Amino acid sequence: MIRRSVVRGTGHYLPERIVENAFFEQQLETSDEWIRARTGIERRHFAAEGQTTSDLGIEAAKAALANAGLSADDIDAIVVATSTPDLTFPSVATMIQGGLGMSRGFAFDVQAVCAGFVFALSTADAMIRAGQADRILVIGAEAFSRILDFTDRSTCVLFGDGAGAVILEVQEGEGTNQDRGILALDLNSDGRYRDLLYVDGGVATTGTAGHLRMQGNLVFRHAVEKLAATAHRALDKAGIPAESVDWLVPHQANIRIIEATAKRMELPIEKVVLTVANHGNTSAASIPLAMSVANSEGRFKTGDVLVAEAIGGGLAWGSVVLRW
Ligand code: UT7
Repeated sequence: MIRRSVVRGTGHYLPERIVENAFFEQQLETSDEWIRARTGIERRHFAAEGQTTSDLGIEAAKAALANAGLSADDIDAIVVATSTPDLTFPSVATMIQGGLGMSRGFAFDVQAVCAGFVFALSTADAMIRAGQADRILVIGAEAFSRILDFTDRSTCVLFGDGAGAVILEVQEGEGTNQDRGILALDLNSDGRYRDLLYVDGGVATTGTAGHLRMQGNLVFRHAVEKLAATAHRALDKAGIPAESVDWLVPHQANIRIIEATAKRMELPIEKVVLTVANHGNTSAASIPLAMSVANSEGRFKTGDVLVAEAIGGGLAWGSVVLRW
């Protein structure tokens, strides 16, 4: 028997303020038509003034605990993926821990930008398999609206705020790919591409938070090439053929990237969880948000094979295969 990390519950939170594409038409040379056609995005949520990443994460965490029928005392650790922390330190994870009234266990952040949730899941899975924790709250939470340059039409229309949470719980498995839980992961990064997508400020440079800069068409090309490849590698490691995949839960950056990846994986679009139209790109929050929305609609059945994949700044990219 081996230790497996099985999904026990999911939750998400989106800030109240919904910003339609029309909002950008008023201040920039752009159109709802362009944004929909090139990205699939129709609207996104923006955090209210004073509402922070940890505020969003706390709400998502509470929703996941309720979904799992657990309380904060049942959790051994919190791992948060974010690139938009409330403060330089302490971690958003410790702020969420405090917000949940949880004084035991441990909490920390990981940062791999839009791929952050896959890296956070991998970290949590490794800790569960090593016996360091039995239940881990894994959260993706972002307030990307705070680092957008609202005069740059090529980036500010793409991103949104939100948080998603997944509770992983240890369960004994046979060690085969019929086990429930995380079956395989594939992580990658290549720092030669760090200038394709970055924030032009930071603690040790400008001393400011900075603004997001992206060479979108180059990132697009890397995404189309690398996402299906990482998904195939993770499926190979799990010994599961692509035709056995029940659900693709992709990073929600651009409908055209998602469609191209599904096509390369020979998956019909009905098997793809899509939230990009309503959420935009919420970076590290996008996969757990999509997973929680689909789960709340009862779309995943016990035993289903899910593949999640993401790419972002670094470049960093990766995928996970899990059995629901
Ligand atoms: O989550 C992290 C990973 N990030 C991504 O996956 C994003 C990847 N990239 C993309 O999704 C796409 O590249 C974009 C949506 C950012 C851009 O789409 P594109 O089809 O690659 O367009 P482009 O960058 O090649 O630009 C085409 C044209 C340009 O005009 P010219 O130079 O052809 O005259 C842009 O200036 O579209 C123009 N453009 C816009 N026009 C109206 C760029 N942004 C806008 C806009 N409204 N908001």
